[in-house]
Amino acid sequence: MKLLSNIAKLVTLEGAVQKKGRNITSEDLSIIENAALVYDKKIIWAGEEVKLPTKYKKLKKTNAQKKMVIPGFIDSHTHLVFAGNRSRDLEQSLSGKTYQEIAAAGGGITHTTQATREISQSDLLKLSDARLKNALKQGITTLEIKTGYGLSFEAEKKCLDVIHQLQKKSPQTIKATYLAAHALPPEYKNRKSEYVTLLTHEWLPKLKSKIDFVDMFIDEGYFDLKDADTLFNSTQLPIKIHADELALSGGTRKAVEYKALSADHLLKITDSEINLLAQSEVTATLLPTTAFYLKTNYASARKLLDAGARVALATDYNPGTSPTQDISLVGILSALYMNMRSEEILVGLTLNGAYALGLEKTKGALLPGYDADFLITKGESVAHIFYEFGQKPLNYEVIIKGQKVK
Ligand code: NIG
Ligand code: FE
Repeated sequence: MKLLSNIAKLVTLEGAVQKKGRNITSEDLSIIENAALVYDKKIIWAGEEVKLPTKYKKLKKTNAQKKMVIPGFIDSHTHLVFAGNRSRDLEQSLSGKTYQEIAAAGGGITHTTQATREISQSDLLKLSDARLKNALKQGITTLEIKTGYGLSFEAEKKCLDVIHQLQKKSPQTIKATYLAAHALPPEYKNRKSEYVTLLTHEWLPKLKSKIDFVDMFIDEGYFDLKDADTLFNSTQLPIKIHADELALSGGTRKAVEYKALSADHLLKITDSEINLLAQSEVTATLLPTTAFYLKTNYASARKLLDAGARVALATDYNPGTSPTQDISLVGILSALYMNMRSEEILVGLTLNGAYALGLEKTKGALLPGYDADFLITKGESVAHIFYEFGQKPLNYEVIIKGQKVK
């Protein structure tokens, strides 16, 4: 058991927990000033230091030196396992081509698929491991990683095996999502329903033990609502959906229909999807760095938040539409272009990220019983955390399950 003392501000998120991540105000940050924290793998006690129970006073003490403590960031949507890069796509997009046009001309997801198929598992692990270390510097203590650049049984399995190796060797908590329905591999051109049947009825049952969630890219030029029914009816695994990113394609409605954990992107949704989401338990996951790179409108965060939806934020880290792992950038874009308040951003990157991964009972807040995943930062306030980006953002000290890992 350990004691962290002399914390200027301890951001517990107790109010946000009580409100299940919705309608967040600055009060819901539930900040304790001059606080102390008692923990082992889990938080045992959190409160004002003057109220520290006598039985904890003799514990080995670390002095937080008047810094702030916040829950570790939860990046609930990433495609971190991939090879190669797509800077060529960016050049083409700058010359006016759409995402789908770039894909049709040999760029896009299938370009990354080629590189991901060719690389050896050990090299793919090395690349991915370096990215995870980068995530740790960003203060990311839990993350989701999707497959989806393999698109053959062997290559999807290779990506899942890499995720499994990362789960074993890295301190972060990692959840694996099966996204074989990310794009149609070239060898199945004009045979979409055959591919969907294959990934649903042959691959998924064989890979099931390695998978936490299933996902599908439901969008114009990718997969449709019928494909979604084929996949989602076949499995009991929790569902996440790439929904209404490029066009209003019905993915958000499917997410509500199937009681998905999350509907992600949501760039093209209208008021009626916003109300549906707000009345459901589906977490609305917004990915502002993707809108930034696609040079499109940002998601209607304000409308979602004001309607009472639970909004999570994530990096969508991938080589095509969001080649960045920068959590501070996600936060700043959310403030500048989605009019989100700093408390909504922090909850979006912690508690609501936990909801998007079904981890809300143990992660995303600093209350007794929750995992001791937290960041010690020289940031003076929550707003200060989402202020600068680019350099070492606030140089976090990172504690995961009670162990200092950075
Ligand atoms: O979340 N939308 C689909 N998947 C990714 C992009 C993948 C890629 O372009 O490589 C996304 O934006
Ligand atoms: Fe994505």
